[in-house]
Amino acid sequence: MNIIDIITKKRLKEELSYEELSYAFNSYLEGLVKDYQMSSLLMAIVINGMSDTETFNLTDIFLKSGDRLDLSSIKGTKIDKHSTGGIGDKITLIIGPIVASLGVIVPKMSGRGLDYTGGTIDKLESIKGFKTSLTEAEFIRELKDIGFAITSQTSNLCPMDKYIYALRDVTGTTESIPLIATSIMSKKIAGGADKILIDIKCGEGALIKTKEDANKLKTIMERIGAYYQKETICEITDMNTPLGTNIGNALEVMEAMDVLNGKQGKLTDLSIELASQMVSIGLNINLEEAKNKVLENINNKKALNKFLEFVKYQGGDISSLKVSSYKEEVKSKKSGIVKSIKALNIGKLSCSLGAGRLNKEDMIDYSVGIVLNKTIGDKVNINDTLFTMYKKDDTKVLIDIDDYYEII
Ligand code: URA
Repeated sequence: MNIIDIITKKRLKEELSYEELSYAFNSYLEGLVKDYQMSSLLMAIVINGMSDTETFNLTDIFLKSGDRLDLSSIKGTKIDKHSTGGIGDKITLIIGPIVASLGVIVPKMSGRGLDYTGGTIDKLESIKGFKTSLTEAEFIRELKDIGFAITSQTSNLCPMDKYIYALRDVTGTTESIPLIATSIMSKKIAGGADKILIDIKCGEGALIKTKEDANKLKTIMERIGAYYQKETICEITDMNTPLGTNIGNALEVMEAMDVLNGKQGKLTDLSIELASQMVSIGLNINLEEAKNKVLENINNKKALNKFLEFVKYQGGDISSLKVSSYKEEVKSKKSGIVKSIKALNIGKLSCSLGAGRLNKEDMIDYSVGIVLNKTIGDKVNINDTLFTMYKKDDTKVLIDIDDYYEII
């Protein structure tokens, strides 16, 4: 077998066998297949797709590249949550503590950024001292002690996804249903939870742009979950507009805390909806009962306290969170009502300010990002601030407002 024949076969839209997929991906892990060859194969997969059989097989290959966590020593239902990612998506940081404060265990393995945003791990690293890489024993101990833990992918859980994910991030190969399904489901199954909730973000600021693709991803992921006997629920949620007001790593942690402190809005509504789903399947109660419990633990601050307990447990100093002092306000040139905010362009702008990666080796600046001062439906006057950029330095950023805000 050789990698060039495998790439060519995929380029010609032929189905790859288990052996061919295993050879290509395992050889990449061993360093025998090079970055440029794997990039080429990934691009062929993005363009020509994969059959369901190929997707199931590749998930199995990813899963077998490492160990599977055994969480059976932890009492209670363990529910993992995952998002396919979007601009300003800090929901894990909100619903993990809510759900854990209600007695459902939330073991969460997270990734770094994919495309234009930092991932949950990047966001948490904006907290000084926060340990994002836990050993298996540390992860399990924390789950037993406080019911919620987040760790980056450890080297022995789905190592294949870790390397492929980093390569996809910088080669324009993120937007592929089979690759997303494989990446997410292999990690979730290896992570050892009993049940899985997946938030499929759909819209211009997400990896998945159309409802049709979101439904395809939902179907294949729920089927893979069922095959591995993990109840999997996929919710499709909107990502045409950035989620919440803050985009950027430290800024997003701050907004997560604001929501746990009672801030209202679309981000809060969605967090309540997803948290209620998890509590419902975790405690075997109906959705309405679950929602009441979720609201109660936001109002009585138990969820916020769980978040603070979690940060402290993993060594973080929440008082260290800071945003850059180099601010630039972007003002409106016309008056009217905000009709839309272009999530993808806001994401790209935030990335160019330093909040995301363009190359695998890029360092993130945790203190930069964007705060949206006006949101959809808001009335705007000439010279009102639409959004504020937090920058690395005082270099002026050239902005064409129409690229970001539609005002009618
Ligand atoms: N999240 C993942 O873990 N993998 C993907 O491919 C996309 C989103």
